[in-house]
Amino acid sequence: MKPISRRSALTLGGLGLAGTAVGGVGLWWSSSSARPARPTAGEELREPSELRSANGRLQLRLDAAPGTIEIGGRTANALSFNGGIPGPTLRLKAGDRLGVTLHNGLEDPTNLHVHGLHVSPEGNGDNPFVTVVPGETFDYEFQLPADHPPGAFWYHPHHHGLVADQIFGGLYGAIIVEDPEPIEAVRERVLVISDITLDGQGRIPSVAPMEQMMGREGELVLVNGQVNPLLSARPGERERWRIVNACVSRYLRLRLDGQQMQLLGIDSGRFATPEAVEDIVLTPGNRADLLVTMVEGLAVLEAQPYDRGRAGGMMGGSGQPRSGTAAGRARLATLTVAGEPVTAAPEVPVQPAPRDLRGSTVTARRELTFAMGMGGMMGSGGMMSFTINGQRFDGERVDITVEAGSVEEWTLRNTSPMDHPVHLHVWPMQVVESDGGASGAAIWRDVVNVPARGQARVRIAFDDYTGRSVYHCHILDHEDEGMMGVIEAR
Ligand code: C2O
Ligand code: CU
Ligand code: CU
Repeated sequence: MKPISRRSALTLGGLGLAGTAVGGVGLWWSSSSARPARPTAGEELREPSELRSANGRLQLRLDAAPGTIEIGGRTANALSFNGGIPGPTLRLKAGDRLGVTLHNGLEDPTNLHVHGLHVSPEGNGDNPFVTVVPGETFDYEFQLPADHPPGAFWYHPHHHGLVADQIFGGLYGAIIVEDPEPIEAVRERVLVISDITLDGQGRIPSVAPMEQMMGREGELVLVNGQVNPLLSARPGERERWRIVNACVSRYLRLRLDGQQMQLLGIDSGRFATPEAVEDIVLTPGNRADLLVTMVEGLAVLEAQPYDRGRAGGMMGGSGQPRSGTAAGRARLATLTVAGEPVTAAPEVPVQPAPRDLRGSTVTARRELTFAMGMGGMMGSGGMMSFTINGQRFDGERVDITVEAGSVEEWTLRNTSPMDHPVHLHVWPMQVVESDGGASGAAIWRDVVNVPARGQARVRIAFDDYTGRSVYHCHILDHEDEGMMGVIEAR
């Protein structure tokens, strides 16, 4: 990625400032258009660069900066960590210490969040209240506990009001916490899926108010910053895929027809036994830890339409996100399986059964109501407000105080006509009820979908840490508009 001058960099200050709104003007070809991804056929999937801990420690510098980068064979003006979209993959083990010096080369404030890691939210830990102003650096330290669950996690900026712009611009990367006992696979791939819109000049247009209300979706869906990259393998090979949904708002209903997929876990930890799956739904922020056993032939990794509701007719326009319609279908990658077959990989060793809080004593029950109402956003008349229990985010207010070490049960209610993927930092959630049905096995997530006009019930063990953190809708436009609350454990 080549640095470009501040002046010519895209403006990401505030919401909806300079630039043209996406009105269908001068858009690039899109991955879901009638001309599917022809320009890049033949481009092999690139892996993000990788940094691995040694002797219990990984220390690195992340430079967040604007620059030019090649996307789909064209030059785009975007943002990146260390010049790459995605930023480097960080490989850690339970018990490791991760040190990150974040340098802010942007024109706006930023900071860093390690999504899904069970680490302290205080001080220079996973603290979403830190502000790193342009030109400054900040030293983060994250200490993973010795029993940290394995899985795929990710990092991204978390400065309230700018999160959607900065992630949409290209600021994200994967974190892998390795298994204590390795699972056999011929190769491992990290697939960071994101979306972006670029105008005819390769710039990211500012978001239109309606897009922002629905949660913006990019015209291009990228895998490791590439448009429809090629993967190849031999029949019988078993690969490990770590899939991150880094899209700001887009839900991914992934299919890989003709191939055998086994899900090892979602977000963090493992299912006791792998689950054979045909499709995988990842809300924004979710990750899948997957085994793919290769079957000879050509297969397409596809995102199929997912209906996450609509913002309602109040604003004019359909209010329906594109990913909910047939036009939202996207071809993400193409897999060719050919050559000499290899012998099948051994069965995956049985994993310890996940913890189950359904038998635990609950010290508090709470209800959180996620609502969209008229008025409120940026004081501009006619826009919608995004609230939790009737309130917009205020970093100075503590909304929920929990007792450290306790177990709570939260009912997440959604009175709005759109789904909200609800995320809590630091402490994962066990889903005990969703869509009106009780869960069978113990299901853990750090982003839980709360369907339009529906609810979900979760249990949370507030183990190990005290301090202030946040919970929010992971449609990051909704979060930036105020659908976030402050929690303090003490
Ligand atoms: Cu992925 Cu609060 O964030
Ligand atoms: Cu997070
Ligand atoms: Cu939302």
